[in-house]
Parts: sequence; C-alpha cells; structure tokens
Amino acid sequence: MTGVVDVHTHVVPNGWPDLATECGGDGWPWLKATSEREAIIMIRDVPFRTVDSSCWDPAVRHADMDADGVDVQVVSPTPVFFGYDRPAAQAVKLARIFNDLTLKLTADDPRLVPFCQVPLQDPAAACAEVDRCLAAGFRGVEIGNHVGDRDLDDAGIAEFLQHCASVGAPVFVHPWDMPEGPRLERWMARWLTGMPAETHLSALALILGGVLDRVPDTLRLAFAHGGGSFPFWLGRADNAWERRGDIVRGRSTRPPSAYTDRFYVDSVVFSEPALRLLVDTMGEDRVLMGTDYPYPLGERPAGAVIRNASFLTAAQRDKLLSGNAWRFLTGAP
Ligand code: CO
Repeated sequence: MTGVVDVHTHVVPNGWPDLATECGGDGWPWLKATSEREAIIMIRDVPFRTVDSSCWDPAVRHADMDADGVDVQVVSPTPVFFGYDRPAAQAVKLARIFNDLTLKLTADDPRLVPFCQVPLQDPAAACAEVDRCLAAGFRGVEIGNHVGDRDLDDAGIAEFLQHCASVGAPVFVHPWDMPEGPRLERWMARWLTGMPAETHLSALALILGGVLDRVPDTLRLAFAHGGGSFPFWLGRADNAWERRGDIVRGRSTRPPSAYTDRFYVDSVVFSEPALRLLVDTMGEDRVLMGTDYPYPLGERPAGAVIRNASFLTAAQRDKLLSGNAWRFLTGAP
C-alpha cells in the first residue's frame, strides 16, 4: 500500500447520547454546541476544549488532507473520553458508544482508518472490545499511557498488549491525565512538560518492566509526540541501567537503547534537529508522520517537518511519510 499517512489524528464524534443515562455514574463530558460548526467539550460545567467540525465531519477532514498532501489519516479517539477512571462496566459501555459512532464517521471511507478505544482498566473487557472492533472494521487501537497507578508493565495491560500482538492489532500509545498542581496549571505546562514526561515514563515501563522481553516482536506499537522525552534521554537511561543496574534494570535483559527496534514514534516534534534526533536514535524505519490533527498543538501543514528536513534522503523521507506507517498498520515486512 502507498500514500502519505498521518498516524496521529483524533475524532470527536457528535451526537452521543446522555452518558449518565447510558453508562451510569455522573460528571461525564458533554458537547455544548455554540454554532453549526463549533462546540465546546464540557466536563460538568467547565469548558475543556473548543472543537470544530473537523472533529466529526469527514468532508472537512478531506479538504484539509487535500490541502496538506495527506492521503490517509489514522483516526483515534480523543483521550478525554477514555473513561479509565470509571468503574469497568461504565467504561465498557462508553467504549462501545464512542467506537460505534466513530465507525459511522469512517465507514466506507478508505482515507480514514479508524482506531478504537478500550476499557483498559479491565483487561478481559479490553480484549473483548478490541476483538469486537476489529471484526466491525477498526484497524487498530489507541490506548492511554497508564491506568491510574498502573503503567504499561502492569500484568493486565501487558496481557492486553499480548492479545493485540496475537490478533495483529497495531497499538498507538497516547499520553493523558498528566499530573496536576499549581506549577503545572500555567502556560499549558501539563501539555508542554507533562505529556512528554508521561510518554517517556510509559516507554521506560515497557522496557524496564520486561514487557518487550515477554511479548513477541509481532506486537506493533507506536508512541505519540515523538516518544516524548524518551529519545532525547535514552543515553541517560542506558547509563543508569549500567551504573545503577541494582535499581534500574528491573525485569529487562538489555539496556534501553537495545529495544528501539521494537516500537515506533511519531514525528510531531516541530523542529528539524528534534526530527534528526528521532531518526538517529530510533532509526529511519521507526519514525511515522503524525500531526495531532485537528488540535491546536498539532502540526500544520501536516508533515511539514519531514518534508522540509534537509538531512533526509528522498528514500528516507518516503519511509517517514508513508512506508513505515504501512508497516505499522499492516504488519507487512
Ligand atoms: Co494526540
């Protein structure tokens, strides 16, 4: 398969039912329409984010893709709807509602490749939902980088990842629920510093928790936002693994840098030196074009940092814009 792929985009389906009625519980997000094309995601009475029809209207997305030279978007949930902090029974219903609405948006549209969400707090239910979704037409799954205090090396989450490997579902890991506090409430600090740190921690948990030693290399994993701080601080992690192995090695058998051929990172890092660092540390086969479309911290035009990077050869640029993503999506060699 060919064509430019954006592996990191989000949807917000509209027209979801009252979630307290459908799922039980309260304090659910709801969509407050402010015009025909705009709405505010509300959590209780507090505005969370203003969104527009690019979140739910395939025609708007197509126009933006055409303008930016993108053939295919991987369309993932918006993490505020994961529901991981809910009782599992509520999160199961929530996932079904949002997955079914997302599938309606992307149905019969070869340019929009849907990834589902799962109730990750309940591994058996998460496996069942990913199976249901794959049968219905989803092509992969987006998960948050943690569930409460459980990281990606939690036994239940590792069981889910094992299941994704066995059914061939690619997994996109996205940060969410960053630490809060007065120091992080200014300047979007939770997004600018919290998100990269969260992603860094989840990649380390996969490695040092021994998950990548136990799960077969058929598992296809990608981390959002260039893998967060992980690639930049890989040398620091290796040094700690060698020098303070008594604490750091955990269940891993090799230093962290030995595992970079086991997962992908996206390219939404905005600067050529940062992209070069990703290609140098992760390898030219491990970087995927991603943008975070349609959100304000995303890259527009999509893929600009790759297209403008002077250090890439034409063959490398093609891998980052297209070839690597198709391997991630299909498992083709
Ligand atoms: Co995102």
